[in-house]
Amino acid sequence: MIKLREIFLILCFIFIASSCNTTNKDKAMVIKSLFGKLSDGREVFKFTLKNKNGMEASIINFGATITSLIVPDKSGKMEDVVLGYDSLEGFVNDKSYLGVIVGRYGNRIGKGKFSIDGKDFQVTVNDGENHLHGGTIGFHKALWEAKAIESDTAPAVELTYVSKDGEDGYPGTVTIKVTYTLTPDNELKIDYEGTTDKPTILNPTNHAYFNLTGDPQNTILDHQLQIESDSTTPVVKGLITTGAFASVANTPFDFRTPTAIGARINDNNEQMEFGGGYDHNWVLKNYDGKVRKVAELYEPKSGRLLIYMTDQPGLQFYSGNFLDGSIKGKKGISYQYRTGLCLEAQHYPDSPNKPQWPSVVLRPGETYKQTTIYKFSTK
Ligand code: GLA
Repeated sequence: MIKLREIFLILCFIFIASSCNTTNKDKAMVIKSLFGKLSDGREVFKFTLKNKNGMEASIINFGATITSLIVPDKSGKMEDVVLGYDSLEGFVNDKSYLGVIVGRYGNRIGKGKFSIDGKDFQVTVNDGENHLHGGTIGFHKALWEAKAIESDTAPAVELTYVSKDGEDGYPGTVTIKVTYTLTPDNELKIDYEGTTDKPTILNPTNHAYFNLTGDPQNTILDHQLQIESDSTTPVVKGLITTGAFASVANTPFDFRTPTAIGARINDNNEQMEFGGGYDHNWVLKNYDGKVRKVAELYEPKSGRLLIYMTDQPGLQFYSGNFLDGSIKGKKGISYQYRTGLCLEAQHYPDSPNKPQWPSVVLRPGETYKQTTIYKFSTK
């Protein structure tokens, strides 16, 4: 009897000792901290999601922005693979959409005009003569309500924003919810949900700039990209789509097999001239509303691989052509030409004016949904 009791006590001791030994590193969690205050005094919080592998994703509720993504390279070295700023001020003044959620309409609407059910609307013109990324108020400059969702396996943060009827010219009050979840498989999953009280358009996306080298002093030209697509939606000057699809065959837009971004970026090509490099939308294969793998981004030196999954019909690949060193980012590093690239899951640009393309109209009673996943590994 005594023996059994002793064994039981020893087992209890081992159990307690091992739980005390568990360090923060191998526990999934959400850490909430004050990131800064807006000029009107409202507080902005940072939510750092950590998984058991030590991967970390930080999100602030200003713009529902990804501020850092810390992932291992092939030797296990943890580095930040997205561009951003160290302080709130940087994000408040930012004009390059670093890490933010853009919307209501991600990408461009020709002249900012569209109509729904025969009714014309004019949204903010903020990119030459066109509308870009939701306008000047937009989802990216809003303070979202945020709620941490603790979990032993997949910590998350849920962000909600109510965009008022008429904001930036859009009809209807839209409630948009974005949930970032960090899974045990080193995936950052972004779930979107939106509703409206009047017919409107909705096409949000995340605008993270990736640099998988982990050092944004390097360009992204050696990153190898593969996209599950046979065609793009060509543009005219000003980057408004023509409404046609163009085959990628025999063009610098052919990423059907992994190809270095820098390999053809300076080719003599009219589309490339319009974009100042890559700034185009690819028509993704197998669009049926379900999440599927649509692209892979690989950086050979670090061995980091990003597998990109989404349920969206299109992918805008932007090679950081407007970065010119004028932005001072994290650690005081100036973001030079093509030191970050964006992969933006979305509907095709200017869809509200292209009835032949999948619709972006959202009506009362319907729920907009999107799921996009950034999965990190090494090879
Ligand atoms: C998108 C656009 C680009 C540019 C960036 C932000 O990716 O397609 O043309 O506006 O956002 O600088």
